[in-house]
Amino acid sequence: MSGQPVFELDDITVGYGGVSAVRGLSASVREGEILALLGPNGAGKTTTMLAAVGALPLISGSVQALGQPIDSAVEKNARRGVTLVPDSRGVFHRLSVADNLRLAKRKGGTDLGVVYEYFPKLKTMRTRKCGNLSGGEQQMLAMAKALLAGPKVLLIDELSLGLSPIAVQELLPRLRSIADDQRMAVILVEQHIDLALGIADSAVVLHHGRVALSAPAAELRGRRDMVEAAYFGRTVDVA
Ligand SMILES: Nc1ncnc2c1ncn2[C@@H]1O[C@H](COP(=O)(O)OP(=O)(O)OP(=O)(O)O)[C@@H](O)[C@H]1O
Ligand SMILES: [Mg+2]
Repeated sequence: MSGQPVFELDDITVGYGGVSAVRGLSASVREGEILALLGPNGAGKTTTMLAAVGALPLISGSVQALGQPIDSAVEKNARRGVTLVPDSRGVFHRLSVADNLRLAKRKGGTDLGVVYEYFPKLKTMRTRKCGNLSGGEQQMLAMAKALLAGPKVLLIDELSLGLSPIAVQELLPRLRSIADDQRMAVILVEQHIDLALGIADSAVVLHHGRVALSAPAAELRGRRDMVEAAYFGRTVDVA
C-alpha cells in the first residue's frame, strides 16, 4: 500500500509517575491499513494506546496524527479524527442501542444508515437496553459508535475481550472491510494472534514495554514460532 503514514509513533517512551512502561516504540499506519499491536499481559499495549490518543503524557518521543503532533486533550484529537475504542467499550448500559448511537454521532462522521449496513444486527436491536446485549453485540455497538464520530485513525483496545473465538472471527473481517471502505488507519490490540494477523497489514509485538518484533503481517502468517519467541521476549529479526 502506498502513501504517507497518517499516524506515527516515533520512538515513544511513556509510563506512570515517571516510571516507563513502554520504551522506544516506533510504528506507523497509512490510510486503510491495520496495524496489530500484540504482546502478553502487561506488555504495554493499553499504555501505548492511551499515549497515542493523548491521554497519557509522553516521557519522550512524539506522536503525529494527520501531519500534526497529538494534543494533550483527548477530545481535541477525537475532533481531528483520532478515536479510541477503550477496553471498557464505553457504551452506556442504561440507554438503548439507538440512544447510544445518537449520542455518538458527530458532524462529518459516518452516516447511521451506513453504520447499520456494517452492523445490521444493531438495527434490529435498536430499542434494546445496552446492558442486556451480549459481549459481542456490545463490541459491535462500541465500533459503531466510534464510526459515527468519523475517525480517520481508529484505535481499538482488545476488540475481543470476553468474546468467543466465533464472535471475533465475525468481527475482525468486518473491521477489515470498514478500514478498506472508509480508508481508515487502524491500530488493533488483539489477543487472538492468528485472527489478528489474518486481517492486519503489519504487526508489532511488545514485550515488557519494548518492541520484540515488528514486521508486515504477511511475513508472520504461519510463523507462530517467530511470534511466540517475541511473546517470550526474544528480539526477533525478520530476514
Ligand atoms: N495506572 C497505572 N499505574 C501504574 N502502572 C500501570 C498503570 N497502568 C498500567 N501499569 C503498568 O504498566 C505496564 C503495562 O500495562 P498495560 O496496561 O499497558 O499492559 P497491556 O499490554 O495492555 O496488558 P493487558 O494485555 O493485560 O491489557 C504493566 O506493568 C502495568 O502494571
Ligand atoms: Mg491492556
